[in-house]
Amino acid sequence: MSALAERVQVVEGPDELAEAAARAAVAELEAAVEAHGSATWVLAGGATPTAAYRRLAAHDLRGGVEWDRVRVAVGDERCVPVHHPDSNWGQAAAALLDHVPVPDHHLLRPPVELGAEAAADAYQAALAALPAAAGGTPRLEVVWLGLGEDGHCLSLFPGHPEVEVSDRLVVPVHASPKPPPDRVSLTLAALAGTERLLVLAAGPAKAVPVARARAGDDRLPLTRAVETVRAAGGGVTWLLDQAAAA
Ligand code: 6PG
Repeated sequence: MSALAERVQVVEGPDELAEAAARAAVAELEAAVEAHGSATWVLAGGATPTAAYRRLAAHDLRGGVEWDRVRVAVGDERCVPVHHPDSNWGQAAAALLDHVPVPDHHLLRPPVELGAEAAADAYQAALAALPAAAGGTPRLEVVWLGLGEDGHCLSLFPGHPEVEVSDRLVVPVHASPKPPPDRVSLTLAALAGTERLLVLAAGPAKAVPVARARAGDDRLPLTRAVETVRAAGGGVTWLLDQAAAA
């Protein structure tokens, strides 16, 4: 796959970010379905994408996606019940997945109720069963990532051992500095099959990690995630509000 471009889109504030992200999802999912007949969308966790999920669930946008051809996964998950406010899947379901007709067998939720180890193994198996990209890792047509003030992405934190794992797609995480401590997370290696990466950031607290990652500071897991996608020929879009782009 020829190297796709890297783009930076700066919008005014969080509302405009949600609008732009929701519209990007429609365009990129449809392009992927057109190209492959189906698409896997890896959702971002955390609070930043929730408004975009909600916007995409609205009548005027959700009709633009062939949801029966979309598989949905999540980049990382906290080991809490799905109805817990900290559940990434729970938040995405309430905002979007409960309102669009993705077939049940296309909903790839990490079974964190099994505990981090067993959930990571089960989720690894589910991702490994996806169509493969050229390099042999799962083809992930659309991946969304948020980032933390320390430059973490997924549940991969600066200086933590999970960042260096290269022989797995999914790892259990037990000492997340961001609560809750127990999680499962895709690895950087799993991102090698990404076709379109969207990095979402809003607010002044994200300006420094965004600038460092865009400058190539590879002490930040986010930088290495972007580099992994680019090295595999995937496209990267930074979707930032003005405060995060400052
Ligand atoms: C998580 C996330 C994490 C998140 C950042 C940003 O489960 O915590 O996947 O990587 O994207 O921490 O979180 P906010 O969007 O809430 O700032």
